[in-house]
Amino acid sequence: MWTAESNRDQLAGWDGPGGAFWADNADRFDAGIAAYQPALVAAAAPGPGDRVLDVGCGTGLLTRELARTAHCALGVDLSSRMLTLARQRAAAAGVPRARFAQADAQVEPFRPVDLVVSRNGVMFFGDPPAAFANLARALRPGGRMVLLFWQGYAEQEWMPTFRRLLGGDPMPGGPFSLGDPDHVRTVLRGAGFTEVHLESRREPMVVGPDVDAAVAYVAGMQRDLIAPLPPADRASALRALRTDLTAHAGPGGVAYGSACWLVRARV
Ligand SMILES: C[S@@+](CC[C@H](N)C(=O)[O-])C[C@H]1O[C@@H](n2cnc3c(N)ncnc32)[C@H](O)[C@@H]1O
Repeated sequence: MWTAESNRDQLAGWDGPGGAFWADNADRFDAGIAAYQPALVAAAAPGPGDRVLDVGCGTGLLTRELARTAHCALGVDLSSRMLTLARQRAAAAGVPRARFAQADAQVEPFRPVDLVVSRNGVMFFGDPPAAFANLARALRPGGRMVLLFWQGYAEQEWMPTFRRLLGGDPMPGGPFSLGDPDHVRTVLRGAGFTEVHLESRREPMVVGPDVDAAVAYVAGMQRDLIAPLPPADRASALRALRTDLTAHAGPGGVAYGSACWLVRARV
């Protein structure tokens, strides 16, 4: 696989321990943001002749859902572990029109498609202008792009709460790097997209069906903060985390506020 120099760190993380954690927790992740899925699928709505490209497809839920009605859907990702699971799940679900490949979407020379989609897979590019220009090139004239990704760090309840409880600093980049809507419009227009439209969506982010499951999931997600703590600090941070998760437990599971952008654009 050819990877941009600016994405080498992302490859090491997603094709290493990061990808392994998300593959092991694929169901929890899918269930956690399930409230966003109907609006994303409705906005994408591929026609029966459409070729779809799912960017940063992970374990492939969106690829599978869209492949059911599209001509075909290709999911690309950096993580070989997540792609293996994506292929297994597409086979088990009987969706042969969903295909998967390991590729850096910033530089991969894609065959032309009618629709580019992504669910939380486009915020990690080392060079966003180059990456979105590559996605614009992948689209046939008149083709569409539909993206869902996190709004800014300060718009979320979940991540700032967890980082505060576990002693971490605010984290404006990473998954929240496309939080500023003006920045998103500038990058997408500069990459060749038109009719760029951002819709704000706010839904609960569910981190587990019960408190024990939520503690394990959030502690795994935040392992980089927890692992370096001295044992006594780690124990008290985890106690504080459990107390907060307990306060957020309800009939729908342990839920925190979250916010995403649903983005539509054309070339
Ligand atoms: C938060 S996960 C989302 C996965 C999936 N879209 C989902 O919603 O379940 C982000 C994904 O983006 C992928 N990714 C990050 N940078 C990428 C790149 N340059 N090219 C392809 N995939 C990338 C990661 O490997 C990871 O699987």
